[in-house]
Amino acid sequence: MSFPTHRPRRLRQNAAMRRLVAETRIHPADLILPVFVREGITEPVALQSMPGVVQHTRDTLKAAAAEAAGLGVGGIMLFGIPETRDATGSASLDPDGVLNDGIRAVKEEVGDSMVVMSDLCLDEFTDHGHCGVLTEGGAVDNDATLEIYGRMGVAQAEAGADLVGPSGMMDGQVAVIRQDLDDAGHQDTGILAYAAKYSSAFYGPFREAVDSQLTGDRKTYQMDPANRREALLEVSLDLDEGADMVMVKPAMSYLDILRDVADASDVPVSAYQISGEYAMIEAAAANGWIDRDAAVMESVLSIRRAGADTVLTYWATELARWIKEGR
Ligand code: PBG
Repeated sequence: MSFPTHRPRRLRQNAAMRRLVAETRIHPADLILPVFVREGITEPVALQSMPGVVQHTRDTLKAAAAEAAGLGVGGIMLFGIPETRDATGSASLDPDGVLNDGIRAVKEEVGDSMVVMSDLCLDEFTDHGHCGVLTEGGAVDNDATLEIYGRMGVAQAEAGADLVGPSGMMDGQVAVIRQDLDDAGHQDTGILAYAAKYSSAFYGPFREAVDSQLTGDRKTYQMDPANRREALLEVSLDLDEGADMVMVKPAMSYLDILRDVADASDVPVSAYQISGEYAMIEAAAANGWIDRDAAVMESVLSIRRAGADTVLTYWATELARWIKEGR
């Protein structure tokens, strides 16, 4: 008998063999493209900290949605940047506000060829940048915020969102949004709950993307990066409250959490490869320190392998094109 008896390298010897035995694949339908639409601009605005990502006008938003849908991308997640902000984020409830209008435009453009999702949170709309309204003392007021979230959910459903994505980490948010959607006759509008969302330094570039007004941090509502077990609590609460899908966010620094949630969840699990993850790879690649395309692929594949059924990534359209081209 020759040595060694086991030769795992046999299944790695060429691309065809590796493709045959690959345990994880990326399909365009697994990808969700996050997009920004900004009120009051006539040309898209490039984001310095996210090379290749822009704040869209209504028209370029529609074009980006159509392009993604044409390549088979599974979904799109909209974020709105209003021209004026106030303490309660009232522009979020305006049926013609930038986000609700953007949802309507995208839904008109893509119909049912891709799933239209919207960020359900106040941080883009408040003049203090927090995800909820504040008490007189300046704390984020959980229950007063819920009341607005419920109305936002209805406004977004009315604009045409297939799934709303509450990302504010208020306690009880999924239950209140579900109730208000049902009461308004939107039983078929689903909830993609940002169930385990951590207070992360890697959101940095997103703050530029939405022109965030925040000073301070979100540590009283987003999760502490030190905690693992707590993610399962957040997920089980959201499932009890009626979440149709759950999300872990960020992705790459939280792959252990993603695996835990994937093992525990009986609904589809999503992961958000966030702005800082995007920026790190783009910056290193721009310096010639890593192979950009390979790093992009590997990063998204790792998130899928860790347990994400779907991945929100700013590279969704580009990845879908690569996959179509057979890369
Ligand atoms: C809050 C929200 C944030 C992101 C998505 N929704 C920012 C935050 O919580 O501070 C971050 C997304 C990213 O960094 O790509 N509405």
